[in-house]
Parts: sequence; C-alpha cells; structure tokens
Amino acid sequence: MKIGILFSGRGSNMSALIEACSDANFPAEIVVAISNNPDAGGLAIAQKAGIPTHVINHREYENRETFDAALDAALKTAGVELVCNAGFMRILTNGFVESWKNRQLNIHPSLLPAFKGLHVHERVLTAGARITGATVHFVRAEMDEGPIVAQAAVAVQPDDTVETLSARVLAAEHKLYPMALRLVAEGKARVQGERVALQAAGHTETGPLFVPPLA
Ligand code: GRF
Repeated sequence: MKIGILFSGRGSNMSALIEACSDANFPAEIVVAISNNPDAGGLAIAQKAGIPTHVINHREYENRETFDAALDAALKTAGVELVCNAGFMRILTNGFVESWKNRQLNIHPSLLPAFKGLHVHERVLTAGARITGATVHFVRAEMDEGPIVAQAAVAVQPDDTVETLSARVLAAEHKLYPMALRLVAEGKARVQGERVALQAAGHTETGPLFVPPLA
C-alpha cells in the first residue's frame, strides 16, 4: 500500500514508520512526505531516507480550502492510497477528510476519547489519571475523533513530569503506529459502522487492537 505522510514537526513518528516500511516484508511503502512547516525537523529525516518530500506552507494559501486542495493534489500525484498523519498540526477541511475517509490515519498521545487536543500530558498529570497511552485512529472531521485501530496503554508514575511521561508515551507511539499501519495495509483492520473490526486468525472481532502497559 502506498503511504503519504503529513507532518509538521520533529517527525519521530514518521521516522518509526520509515523504519518499519524499510523492511521488505512490511506491506506498505512511503511514497511522499509533506510538511506544512518549512522549519520542521522531520524534513531532514524524510530526505535522508530518500523519500520525495514537499513543503506545502499553509501561510502561502488564502484559506484552508486552497491549502487542502494543494495537499490533496500532491498526495494524488504521488499515487497515495493511505494518508498517515504524524504530528500534523493543521485542522483539515470536511471536504478533505471526506475524500480520504477510511484512507487517513492519525496518532494521538492519549487513550482516546480521553484527552483530545493539545497539552495532553500536562492535562493527564493535572487530572491525576493513572493510565494514559496512545491511539491510532481513522480521521474524521472532528479533531482526534474516528474509528480506533489500535491503542497502547502507559502507566502514569507518581513522580512523572510532562517530560518523563511524554517520553514513555512517545516510545509507545513508535511501536503502535507501525503495528496499526500493518493491520490497515493488510486489510485486517476495516471500518464497520464507525468501529474498527479486526480480522485475526480467521475470525473477525469488533474493537481495536490493544497493547497493554509497557514495562
Ligand atoms: C506525537 O506525540 C503525536 O502523537 C502527536 O504529535 C506528536 C508528534 O511527534 N500527534 P513527532 O513529530 O512524531 O515526533
């Protein structure tokens, strides 16, 4: 399956996907990586991996529609079949989301539907939550919503800071996103009635892949 990555920043999740896709047995290949941010650290990562890389700077577009149209055109030109958002910090128009429906994934650093939005780890610590984690889901128009493909749980330690907690969740993200992508690329995770049905060992079960707390 041909993958296009959308990113805005350091690109560590993209890096995890690049590494996974570099294995000849992995069922996906990255055909393009697009950043809206010309200063994104991830640009160097993608270029070093030899992936065709574009900057589509949202500041150079009049509105969200024209920006999204440029994204859409670049993805289609590259022959993308599935879009993977990896730290992509722009809200997409309903039109873009609809046209890539069930063909676009996102990763979020919480156990959705808890803690949508920004400053997740700070809010997890403030709330006193004992378990947090990461979620890979199909993209819908509402931010951080959509059928869940896979989740990884991470225990919150009493002495955690935003830095220590975000580092452990990020490590979980880097394992989870390639696992989720594999399931989708192999056709084993499909959307059925706004839930994901996982096909495993000859039977179909409803509900996402769950990765229990990492040690
Ligand atoms: C990750 O925590 C991801 O879950 C969130 O944004 C962050 C991006 O980090 N959506 P990176 O650019 O992949 O390192």
